[in-house]
Amino acid sequence: MNTQLPPRPIIAPSILSANFADLATDIGKVTNGGWIHVDIMDGHFVPNLSFGPDITKTVNTITDQILDVHLMIEEPEQWVDRYIAAGADCIIFHVEAVDGITACQSLIDHLHAQGVRAGFSVKPATPIEDYLDVVDSADLVLVMSVEPGFGGQSFMADQLDKVRLLRDYIDARGLDTIIEIDGGISTGTIEKAAEAGVDAFVAGSAVFGAPDPHAMVDELHTLAAQVVQ
Ligand code: DX5
Ligand code: ZN
Repeated sequence: MNTQLPPRPIIAPSILSANFADLATDIGKVTNGGWIHVDIMDGHFVPNLSFGPDITKTVNTITDQILDVHLMIEEPEQWVDRYIAAGADCIIFHVEAVDGITACQSLIDHLHAQGVRAGFSVKPATPIEDYLDVVDSADLVLVMSVEPGFGGQSFMADQLDKVRLLRDYIDARGLDTIIEIDGGISTGTIEKAAEAGVDAFVAGSAVFGAPDPHAMVDELHTLAAQVVQ
């Protein structure tokens, strides 16, 4: 596990939009992001399939960057240990996939006991107000700015209200919880997200669809850094 966090803002390229036939080359282009975002989809929690622990393990062998593993799966508690064994540094589960706030807290506690960072994610229709009690113990909250399941969707700007509420909550309590956003982040949307208080920005199609992914990560970082001081 990689325990060091890069300074914020953090750009987390999502390999969902990378070339699966040559992941090593694509991951090698974006070492300037600091994180690699790994999207796990089970075909049940979301209407799409991606990959599982074996590919995650392979990714971990080809980079020493932080692996930010986003579990879009049912029964995440049944799977997290396999992703920890595969080399995940931060594991993000969906609150909609677990049975209430007590189960969220138990899963966060379990992840911490295993020595990894713990994050939770909320789909666009899920109110963050219901989960503020677990923000205190989470290392990261991932706000979905698209419906989870596919890359290349349009950014949902109304999700920034959720970010602002989280930013106020975290700052008022002096917490260090990272606010991450996922979906539709590009040069056209990243500044709005940064202004709302996002610390970490997942970007899939914007990065791997660019002619020069490395330069795109730099450009996104510059745009966010101009806002996040
Ligand atoms: C969507 C995934 C995202 C996806 C983002 O369900 O969680 O991480 O890769 O893709 P873009 O940046 O293209 O919206
Ligand atoms: Zn994701």
